[in-house]
Amino acid sequence: MNQPVSAIELRRRFPSDFTWGVATSAFQIEGAAHADGKGQSIWDEFCHLPGAIADGSNGEIACDHYHRLDSDLDLIAQLGVNAYRFSVSWPRIQPDGSGAINPAGLAFYDRLVDGLLRRNIRPYLTLYHWDLPSALQHRQGGWAARDTAFRFAEYARIVAKHLGDRVASIATHNEPWITSILGHERGIFAPGVKSRRVAFQAAHHVLLSHALALRTIRESGCKAQLGIVLNMSPVYAATDSALDAFHARREDGRLIRWFMDPLFKGHYPQDVLEDLGADAPQVEPEDAHLISQPFDFLGINYYHPTVSSSANPSSPASHGAAVTDMGWEVSPRSLTQLLLRLRRDYAIPALFITENGAAYKDEVVNGLIDDEDRRHYIESHLAATADAIRQGVPVKGYFVWSLLDNFEWAEGYRKRFGIVHVDYDTQRRTLKRSAHWYREFLTAARG
Ligand code: FCB
Repeated sequence: MNQPVSAIELRRRFPSDFTWGVATSAFQIEGAAHADGKGQSIWDEFCHLPGAIADGSNGEIACDHYHRLDSDLDLIAQLGVNAYRFSVSWPRIQPDGSGAINPAGLAFYDRLVDGLLRRNIRPYLTLYHWDLPSALQHRQGGWAARDTAFRFAEYARIVAKHLGDRVASIATHNEPWITSILGHERGIFAPGVKSRRVAFQAAHHVLLSHALALRTIRESGCKAQLGIVLNMSPVYAATDSALDAFHARREDGRLIRWFMDPLFKGHYPQDVLEDLGADAPQVEPEDAHLISQPFDFLGINYYHPTVSSSANPSSPASHGAAVTDMGWEVSPRSLTQLLLRLRRDYAIPALFITENGAAYKDEVVNGLIDDEDRRHYIESHLAATADAIRQGVPVKGYFVWSLLDNFEWAEGYRKRFGIVHVDYDTQRRTLKRSAHWYREFLTAARG
């Protein structure tokens, strides 16, 4: 699998109708935090908590994408992709989290979607990539409140009604595990809550909101493919010990089965429920049925394997492994294993790798960025994806994370994931070697 192959050879391992893209999210690139009637999000607020963001930065300007839309769309087109995954900022659409719609917010995404279509790029829209309107957090505790699921469905209906005739795909949520566990159990992401009980209640409400949104989007007559995006990785025990195996099984339950089982099997995993005890979420009788309604695709965001031991049940790297600038182990093989496992355990109609990529310390030398590590990361993960397809996994598309260097959440701007370099002083964009390679790869088998 990891033998060097030419771009043409690798490209030919994918079906001709494969979806090829790059991905971003609203808060990480748009900036314009107060422009044109946008409301505050929980991330706008979280950034101002002392110590929350490693470099003390925030998303006020980010990549200034909001004001550079047309040139950024040209940049995307230059890469030769046929799809672009982006997220909509809920507080741009509903500054108060419910009720009144902000027309200027919708107008921005109109221009984005129409601009993509004009360039023959299919819009892959995500409704929620973590920027909850602060008003909902203050009023009712955000995702801790069941009502937030209904507010989300209202927001989903507005977006679907407005853009649903032109987008190829709508994902309800990006990575509910992050929203719930990092945001509400570990408290290292917005809204910074630290309670296992609240985290799992929030996770349930996020899944419920996905289900309510699916229902309302379908009722609106929208023809886009509908789905959800989960972050996943295989969980390996650090050693052969029974204790590490126990931790690995537990982590697998929290990371994968807690989300996949209700979506595809109609119930939460028994072992996780038992483990949670009194911290298990309150659910209503109709929820399980709603949450397990069929949808069109599952998006997978994959970066690294998870290694479990009693010392650290959720480590992103095994001892001595090659890691990226995030400290995340580089393991394309574990992507193949993940995909095969998902196909074995769940009846998934279609899969997309909605995010995959790597942060490395880039050096700009004479205006050039030779990011061989990142290029190789992408190439080897494409080979791993092709391997899974060959073994029958229905992977339909792949999106590089990310188009641009951007605001990497609690790390701020010091971690760079882009295949396009951003000089934050001038907002100048420069294609890195990985971007040139991706373009060559995408055009390799044409003609
Ligand atoms: C994922 C997020 C994305 C980005 C990458 C590195 O968890 O969805 O926004 O931060 O990690």
